Amino acid sequence: MQIASKIGSPSEQRTPCIVVVVHHKKVLSEAAHILDTKTNGLISSLVKRGDLRDEIGETLLINNCPGIAADRLLLVNGGNSKGTSENEFRKIVVGVARTLKSLDIKSAIDTMHKIHISDRGGSRWKIKTIAQEVSAATYQFNEFKTSKRKSSGFNKLTFLVDDASERKTMSLAFKEASGLTQGINLTKNLANRPANICTPTHLAEVSLSLAESNSNLTTQVLEEIDMEKLKMGALLSVSKGSRQPAKFIIIKYDAENPIQMKPVVLVGKGVTFDSGGISLKPGPGMDEMKYDMGGAASVIGSMLAVAIIKPEINVVGIIPATENLPDGNASKPGDIVTSMSGQTIEILNTDAEGRLILCDALTYAEQFNPEAIVDIATLTGACVVALGEHATGLLSTDDNLSNDLLSSGTRSGDKAWQLPLWPEYHKQIESPFADMANVGGRAAGTITAACFLSKFTKNIPWAHLDIAGTAWKSGMQKGATGRPVPLLIDFIQSKASGRDCDEN
Ligand code: BES
Ligand code: MN
Ligand code: ZN
Repeated sequence: MQIASKIGSPSEQRTPCIVVVVHHKKVLSEAAHILDTKTNGLISSLVKRGDLRDEIGETLLINNCPGIAADRLLLVNGGNSKGTSENEFRKIVVGVARTLKSLDIKSAIDTMHKIHISDRGGSRWKIKTIAQEVSAATYQFNEFKTSKRKSSGFNKLTFLVDDASERKTMSLAFKEASGLTQGINLTKNLANRPANICTPTHLAEVSLSLAESNSNLTTQVLEEIDMEKLKMGALLSVSKGSRQPAKFIIIKYDAENPIQMKPVVLVGKGVTFDSGGISLKPGPGMDEMKYDMGGAASVIGSMLAVAIIKPEINVVGIIPATENLPDGNASKPGDIVTSMSGQTIEILNTDAEGRLILCDALTYAEQFNPEAIVDIATLTGACVVALGEHATGLLSTDDNLSNDLLSSGTRSGDKAWQLPLWPEYHKQIESPFADMANVGGRAAGTITAACFLSKFTKNIPWAHLDIAGTAWKSGMQKGATGRPVPLLIDFIQSKASGRDCDEN
């Protein structure tokens, strides 16, 4: 979805739909007032009659309004005219997004960003929230529907502003909203693609083409032979059971005037299909393991967002990409492998493959002398049991880093919740034969997985985001969510500006 801004009067907008706010107690917003005058009191008479219900977020669509240029007028109940809370604002936006989705239109003009928010709500936050909710509601994944392939769907949202100075002060917000929605949609598209299309090679090709179209990105792809030279024995032990070659992808964003040279490194789990390997998963629902590259998709999407938003901090995205399949050449339970770090691992369960590919990527990441490493992975079913689909699991050895990430989650509405990473849990992954085992039993599965990873990040502030519950939705609304791109972008931007992101 494209984000645009425009200077002008609401009555003169040629658009399939203009969104206009009416507050509680039938108080018209400024835009509503102007349109009401132009339509000889149509809005006030409909509101007086009670056609727009007096509940926040309720909408009323007016299909034909003589006197104004827009095809449709979408009224939304914007709550108290003195100001709404952040939660109420979200409700208003969601109400509008839902209605826009139900219309077969390609673009709309918004004025909701004029609503005053009492508890937070700089313009940046409002613009981002509107763009994200409208983009999410109108997102469609039609790449494989032959009948719908050509229809572009809803693809442009324009924010109406009063004058050039307002447009200028909000230009960063528009750029952010645009970067975010494009990054989120790329993440969703990649994750939604089936595993026969979205292979490690596909992730590499998309990453290379991103660098081609964005001059501030560079992409490098390592082949299996390079991984052998680097002694990435853990990663290669997973890919050897697959006929698709593994790819190790590095995407670099170079800021124009970085506030410091140390980059933030994002590492994304890129298992393009996780069958479990020899420790084969049960059949039902196994198709959803095409989403096991959700971490990788979120890193690629975040790199695109960063390329558009251009924060003043360097960012590196690292993606170990492979399939996990059973094969005559696949790893077997009990096999012992040597990771790039030199530490040996007893593979007790080939279905705990995510940590095996991530550990070598984390070791590789050290060469960038990172300010912080954040890995993102659909790592454990246990995380879905613990937190469900609402919160991403956060585990970290660094309190400042985890606090920053938690704040970014809260601010962006892309929430994370911390689990402990105490030394007591390390016992569970001890092995009688190797330096560690790759599983630690049923208890605290998310924590022991993070304990495993922490053995590869000893020298650098590191955090792990387990997105097993948040990266996609199951059931009737099956599909990728684009999480945790909003959290990551907020985190990167607050690192770049050295302050909270929604100050404005
Ligand atoms: N990709 C899965 C984790 C997963 C499972 C994510 C279900 C979302 C939904 C991961 O590779 C895995 O299989 N983990 C195992 C670990 C276990 C063998 C210690 C799991 O969670 O069962
Ligand atoms: Mn697995
Ligand atoms: Zn997996």
